[in-house]
Amino acid sequence: MFLYILGLVAVWFICRWYRETKRVSNKGDKYVYITGCDSGFGNLLAKHLNKLGFPVIAGCYTEKGENELKKTTSDTLTTVHLDVTDSDSVNRVAAQIKSLVGEKGLWAVVNNAGVAVPSGPTDWLTIDDYKGMLAVNLCGVIDVTLSVLQLIKKAKGRVVNVASVFGRISPFGGPYCVSKYGVEAFNDSLRINMAHFGVKVACIEPGFFRTNVTDTMLLKNDLKRLWARLPQDIKDSYGDQYLASTIEKVDERFSQLTDGNLMKVVSCMEHAISALHPRARYSPGWDAKFFWLPLSYMPSCISDRIFLKNLPKYKET
Ligand SMILES: NC(=O)c1ccc[n+]([C@@H]2O[C@H](COP(=O)([O-])OP(=O)(O)OC[C@H]3O[C@@H](n4cnc5c(N)ncnc54)[C@H](OP(=O)(O)O)[C@@H]3O)[C@@H](O)[C@H]2O)c1
Repeated sequence: MFLYILGLVAVWFICRWYRETKRVSNKGDKYVYITGCDSGFGNLLAKHLNKLGFPVIAGCYTEKGENELKKTTSDTLTTVHLDVTDSDSVNRVAAQIKSLVGEKGLWAVVNNAGVAVPSGPTDWLTIDDYKGMLAVNLCGVIDVTLSVLQLIKKAKGRVVNVASVFGRISPFGGPYCVSKYGVEAFNDSLRINMAHFGVKVACIEPGFFRTNVTDTMLLKNDLKRLWARLPQDIKDSYGDQYLASTIEKVDERFSQLTDGNLMKVVSCMEHAISALHPRARYSPGWDAKFFWLPLSYMPSCISDRIFLKNLPKYKET
């Protein structure tokens, strides 16, 4: 009986693997629009798709990012200046894309741009800290998608949203997890809404990878900035050791978990764009597959216990 079930599982995996190897044809006609191409996953994906022969429209936040990307890619990659928090900028780029892609429409948009600071305990943050990050990580995703959705419907194309494992489980305070849970919700409703039009919607939920988002120097300096601006009564409630202990935990956790192979994420993005049968969700990274996602399915009493055991040192009460 056990061998029979094992055999069925093996056949299911082989069938799935075969189905997922098939790719779309005419890559040269399929424009892909990516946000946040200055660095990290977006930058690598833009270069990778350019090599594979897809025409790429790479949204860059800075002029430096645009210039550096242009130097290393062919002329089928077009860079555009894009700030996803500014609707004028988003609409200007959408108009450029409309004239570039013509009647064929846009094959795919990859909502990749994102930020990870400020992050910290909830009562260290202000509502403006929340609004600032939600503007990039969540409203930016929605605004960019809406700006090109009709062009994607025309091509029966793809929307690829970059969320995170922290769109599935929320072990630290601040707007990052809130924004990524929002991306998951937007992604799932869009996937259902667009099915009728032949548009496929995929969500990428990476674990920890080495990019600016996980730059420990940046995160630690920002924690120090947040602590320095706190009123004395909040500082007193946490105690003198808390900041140093938090910084120690950041170093410890990030060195344990962060993966340097960004291609694991980029390959999932590429599959979502180029496979005939893309998946609804991709979870690149061992920590995502074997720690964060299984933990997200467990009862809160178990996940809370694990997180509470690993908290920084508070003042004795
Ligand atoms: N690295 C990880 O472990 C990890 C894990 C899960 C999910 N993610 C997600 O993956 C995505 C890509 O991040 P990454 O890890 O590759 O980090 P990254 O290198 O910092 O990439 C983020 C990109 O977004 C750009 N950006 C920031 N604000 C923007 C704005 N207002 N408008 C347009 N672009 C803007 C950044 O430009 P500048 O560089 O010029 O600021 C940068 O190019 C993010 O959504 C992130 O949340 C990352």
